[in-house]
Amino acid sequence: MQAVRIHRFGGPEVMTIEEIDRPTPAANEVVIKVFAASVNPVDAKIREGKYPVVTETDLPYVLGRDVCGEIAAAGSDVTSFLIGDEVYAFLSPEHGGYEEFVLARPDEVAAKPQSLDAIGAAAVPLAGVTAWQGLFDHGGLEAGQRVLIHGGAGGVGHFAIQLAKAKGAWVATTVSSSDKDFVSNLGADQVIDYKTEKFEDVVAPVDLVFDLIGGETQERSFGVVKPGGALISTLQEPDKAQAKKRNIQAARYTAQPNGDQLREIAWLIDQGKIRVAVASTFALRQAAEAQLALQERHIRGKVVLKVAEQQTRAIVDDDTRRLRAYQIWEDEGRPQGQDLAHWYRAGHTGATDEHPDYRRYRPGAAPTGSLVIKFYHSGDQVRGYVRKVADTDADDTIFPGEEMEPEAAFMLAASHKADSREPVFVELVEGVEWNSAWGRLG
Ligand SMILES: NC(=O)c1ccc[n+]([C@@H]2O[C@H](COP(=O)([O-])OP(=O)(O)OC[C@H]3O[C@@H](n4cnc5c(N)ncnc54)[C@H](OP(=O)(O)O)[C@@H]3O)[C@@H](O)[C@H]2O)c1
Repeated sequence: MQAVRIHRFGGPEVMTIEEIDRPTPAANEVVIKVFAASVNPVDAKIREGKYPVVTETDLPYVLGRDVCGEIAAAGSDVTSFLIGDEVYAFLSPEHGGYEEFVLARPDEVAAKPQSLDAIGAAAVPLAGVTAWQGLFDHGGLEAGQRVLIHGGAGGVGHFAIQLAKAKGAWVATTVSSSDKDFVSNLGADQVIDYKTEKFEDVVAPVDLVFDLIGGETQERSFGVVKPGGALISTLQEPDKAQAKKRNIQAARYTAQPNGDQLREIAWLIDQGKIRVAVASTFALRQAAEAQLALQERHIRGKVVLKVAEQQTRAIVDDDTRRLRAYQIWEDEGRPQGQDLAHWYRAGHTGATDEHPDYRRYRPGAAPTGSLVIKFYHSGDQVRGYVRKVADTDADDTIFPGEEMEPEAAFMLAASHKADSREPVFVELVEGVEWNSAWGRLG
């Protein structure tokens, strides 16, 4: 597979695109097939050797900290994702995103926002989680409070404005004049041109300054924070003596991967509360150019690398979604092998009195992404496993799961169902009778 790596620290010229081995997951890891990866300022800092977490001993090193893609493989302990799940992730520093397949820990990963394509979704994880943690975990921002966000038109800033507004806060932000309309449209209540105005002259005291700029912008910010308020920075440690004198909580933090927060952000995006601005897109082989663009050009929002084509997914209508479980008729005779499409052609809809907990499968193909819980006889016991329809035509069914108790198979399917709009099918083969005690899909 292709990856963009560095073998030494330096300028963009140290980045090379290389053929390396595809990773295999440990028991508690997943492999994501990457559709798109975003470019963040930290990528250039790592490349230059200015990010203390990545040192000479980590070379050669794959750059990139966040991606959107689909689960391509999962370790034996992973229960939260199935192969084929479309996800996005903010990766820990040991895993780079500028590559075709990347390892991740399940707790760094979440289902991607359904309303975004892969490019839009890849733009979110690092910047979105940084904004979330700065405003809420470190800044303690609450509804009704006032926040000043420095650098509101950048990757982190444009998410911060919208997250603060979604929380019910009042938002002021500093930007270049050409970005004023952009941030007003994102919901900013007061917009200050940092090149022509002094924010400390025009902003009334705030509960929180979220500093994405540092330097003298940070120093001047102490004067606009209310006593008891906070100054939180992604860049430099604020002056503790000043903070104490003014009774302000002041801190610098490093954002940490967090799948739960990604889930919350995905929900806000799908609710239409957060829009994602992608300023420009580059191919993976143009990663150096993309980093230069972020460093040197005026960028509004995010820069993203397109790594591979995203698979198109079947759209499931609401009626199909309401039918939670199905039986696959075996009238046609079950063919040898894994010809799922053939199985699905048989049968028709309608729950029966004897089997109120499930419906028969309606004619037509099972949509891509559907889960199938298959129950069958193994010796004198009934066993089940869960798999997923990856490609209906090719019958590309996937799940590395083992045989398990029927109840366990139901629980596994139910937990995956919670993140998915796709229907779940129950397949009873070789004379297995339905037992409602196995579970229900809620
Ligand atoms: N600690 C962490 O975990 C963490 C996480 C993420 C990001 N960061 C850091 O946080 C910073 C922001 O990240 P990002 O991804 O949002 O960067 P970005 O996308 O490059 O955005 C930076 C924005 O700041 C604006 N800007 C520059 N000087 C300004 C000033 N004096 N006042 C107001 N706005 C100004 C830029 O606009 P113009 O082009 O108009 O100047 C640009 O819109 C970066 O330095 C990054 O390294 C740290």
